[in-house]
Amino acid sequence: MRKIVSPTPGACQSQVYSTVIERLQAREPFLWLNPAWKPAAQSLPSLPYGWRHVEDAAARLDRFAPLLADLFPELESAGGMIESPLLSVSRWAAGKLGADAQSAGTFRIKADHQLPVAGSIKARGGIYAVLCFAEKVAMDGGLLKAGGDYRCLREPAVRSLFGQYELSVGSTGNLGLSIGVMGAALGFRVAVHMSVEAKEWKKERLRKRGVRVVEHPSDYTAACAAARQQAAGDLRRHFIDDENSVELLLGYSVAVPRLRKQLQQQGITVDARHPLFLYLPCGVGGAPGGITLAAKLVFGDHAHCFFAEPTEAPCMLYGLLTGRHEAASIGELGIKLQTDADGLAVGRPSGLVGRLVNELVSGCYTVRDGELYKALLELEKDEKISVEPSAAAGCMGPERLLSTPGGQSYLREHDLQKNLSHATHVIWTTGGSLVPAEQQEEFRRKGGSLIAQV
Ligand SMILES: Cc1ncc(COP(=O)(O)O)c(C=O)c1O
Repeated sequence: MRKIVSPTPGACQSQVYSTVIERLQAREPFLWLNPAWKPAAQSLPSLPYGWRHVEDAAARLDRFAPLLADLFPELESAGGMIESPLLSVSRWAAGKLGADAQSAGTFRIKADHQLPVAGSIKARGGIYAVLCFAEKVAMDGGLLKAGGDYRCLREPAVRSLFGQYELSVGSTGNLGLSIGVMGAALGFRVAVHMSVEAKEWKKERLRKRGVRVVEHPSDYTAACAAARQQAAGDLRRHFIDDENSVELLLGYSVAVPRLRKQLQQQGITVDARHPLFLYLPCGVGGAPGGITLAAKLVFGDHAHCFFAEPTEAPCMLYGLLTGRHEAASIGELGIKLQTDADGLAVGRPSGLVGRLVNELVSGCYTVRDGELYKALLELEKDEKISVEPSAAAGCMGPERLLSTPGGQSYLREHDLQKNLSHATHVIWTTGGSLVPAEQQEEFRRKGGSLIAQV
């Protein structure tokens, strides 16, 4: 029997700590409510990042937009903006929730599985982190001026400067794809350290772009550590640290002001009478963390953010529960990352994100692979939306909230029941549009056989 480390004082008040540990160890799908949650007015002022950081990131992406439109023809019509649509999924919701769907408000999918250039939510943070570094190198090298036209970064002198640097990153696959694609497009050398979970097609896609793929027979945490170590002390190697990067976090956060605009365009209000629920797949935490930070900044207490993790990789839940964040490994619980949700197959959460969202996130729920496959098939059938298994984790959110004792008690504690019919539920689908047809077919086959076990 492994030793379970006890929680920091006060880490769990509303649910008994040992019961939660038992449920995690039993790989039980459940909703955990965060006892450290506080109203935004109390939690936000003490955070190191605020609205001006989100705005700064959005402005940087705007500066780069003309260059991105030149580099990627698929971005031309959007003027270089990398964004995904907000889709109505009422047919899916009705099939999934039955009568509950009608009384629970409106259902949307934030379709990051369709994000251009890199096909996953990691395009937001990963691409942004590369652009931050490119801007700094070009400015330090005297080849780019503040207020200048960023399209000059395509010039041979800049590309040859970029070519002197290697970007490196540890990844379960999708972050590597986004950094690899963007880095290579600008002329950087790129090394992606892939964990054992990373899918072969993601590695192949990167190799075709000239990216150096370093395969590790170990998990994501170890792949990151190897990449970090190789880059240490080498001024020509820039390590993008998925476990600790503020730039990644802020790149993800920009999704929220854009989401606000999309909601407005669709006539959807978010206020005290119209709560917003976000269901966010979580690996190391950067993507859902950046979105949660910005959602609380934009919508305050009207936004309720839930993280979704595999029962085989509930690292953020465990880090928050224990208050030990990056020091908490789910290996301590005997959990071994045996999940097909490769993007979420992470054993230790980001400490940066865990501390940041500690009082912001409403809760975390866990999902079985069988549920992910079921949702993947349902989305295809009802909405013609194809995602990869990790990206389907948000789909269980409404059911966990509306139909479990934990969800009911959250609705009661936050006095949300009376406004539920005016609520909006946003399920964030986080990856899938680049999945090769044979791989998607394999997901369908596997899904069909696993569904019986759900
Ligand atoms: C498809 C997909 N969804 C969600 C995530 C979670 O993002 P994060 O690891 O930043 O929590 C990942 C991470 O790679 C991913 O690939």
